Amino acid sequence: MTQTMNRLNVNGRTHEVGANADTPLLYILRNDLALNGPKYGCGLGECGTCTVLIDGAAARSCVIPVGGCAGRAIVTLEGLGSRDNPDPVQQAFITEQAAQCGYCLNGMIMTTKALLNINPRPTETEAAEALKYNLCRCGAHVEIMRAVMRAAGRIVEAGD
Ligand code: FES
Repeated sequence: MTQTMNRLNVNGRTHEVGANADTPLLYILRNDLALNGPKYGCGLGECGTCTVLIDGAAARSCVIPVGGCAGRAIVTLEGLGSRDNPDPVQQAFITEQAAQCGYCLNGMIMTTKALLNINPRPTETEAAEALKYNLCRCGAHVEIMRAVMRAAGRIVEAGD
């Protein structure tokens, strides 16, 4: 296999990474850049837990070859917010305690972020449609949907 240098823009920073162009972006993010927000689940583009944003849209990094990512703006969960300053989507998931094991959360949050980028105030039906291919084996879907609706500004309580 021939390694080439790949220039990547990840979370606003430029990285030069040597890898075969066919290497899945997920491997580069996790193994080379130590960005472990995106998770390895199925490796087939079917579960959604590896989701990142590429130019603002949700993308399954397990099936995206790194060679196609040059010049694109890649954002991982780490690029959204921090423990002290979470993104509003992250805060909504915290407020709703929308996790059990948490393995799917990266995909749920990044897909929600991508949805809100194009539709800032989705209906529950629109949100369910956007998230229908993100799998959660624990069955936390009720809390997850509440978190998405909260992030969309459709759940507002006194004190918020
Ligand atoms: Fe990428 Fe499942 S690990 S979609």
